[in-house]
Amino acid sequence: AEETIIVDAQENMINIAHRGASAYAPENTMAAFTMSVEMGADYIEFDVQMTKDGIPVVIHDLTVDRTTNGYGSLNTYTLDKLKSLDAGSWFSKEFAGETIPTLDEVLTEFGGKISILIELKFPEVYPGIEVKVANALKEHNLVSANSNQIIIQSFNHESIKLSKELLPDIPHGVLVRNDWKGVSDRQLEEFATYADYFNPNFNMVTAELVERVHFNNMTMFPYTIKKQSLASKLYNLGVDGIITDDPDILK
Ligand code: G3P
Ligand code: CA
Repeated sequence: AEETIIVDAQENMINIAHRGASAYAPENTMAAFTMSVEMGADYIEFDVQMTKDGIPVVIHDLTVDRTTNGYGSLNTYTLDKLKSLDAGSWFSKEFAGETIPTLDEVLTEFGGKISILIELKFPEVYPGIEVKVANALKEHNLVSANSNQIIIQSFNHESIKLSKELLPDIPHGVLVRNDWKGVSDRQLEEFATYADYFNPNFNMVTAELVERVHFNNMTMFPYTIKKQSLASKLYNLGVDGIITDDPDILK
């Protein structure tokens, strides 16, 4: 019976590669995104912030310390300076020479090739980032209603409200941490006025929550799943997909 469930999950669950195939390649790099495509993921997920000179770039942390050979806050780096950093060696020698990608580079390479889940990361630090991201998506012709290629999400729900106004045809999602475990029906209804996805920490997922989110016409992709047993459990609770470091997990 276990086997049948996993095969079903592979067919029905949406497989989202968290920061790319980040179990196998340095997170948020072209190498990690290329690997996601090769592994058959449905989406790549990545984090967008901005350089000192206002260019949207793909990196998770507020500083470059953990994922490059440099130091300091991202917003003290111009794009030029940022591009001189190595974003691959920290993970393994074979990825030396990877750089922090710009949003534009990722959309050029992967737009239309794989669906994309964009996270606006710390948008409160980067006023105007919603407009910059919206313009980039328009330039790449990725904003049509039925293309189903792009979702924008954030823990900052005000930022998602603003982005949804700029891009009404693009599905948007609210990311929620465990402190939303007791989310009320009223709060879910409020989210549903601008969000199409309710993406929670996996720890707070129950069958009842999935049902209430679906009742409010939202889809649920919990984060971040690293084990097959957990993927299987979440499948049984009725989630629509999983955000995972390992796109092979649904196989
Ligand atoms: O996509 C959800 C997940 O990425 C949120 O957490 O910290 O990995 O960006 P984090
Ligand atoms: Ca993220």
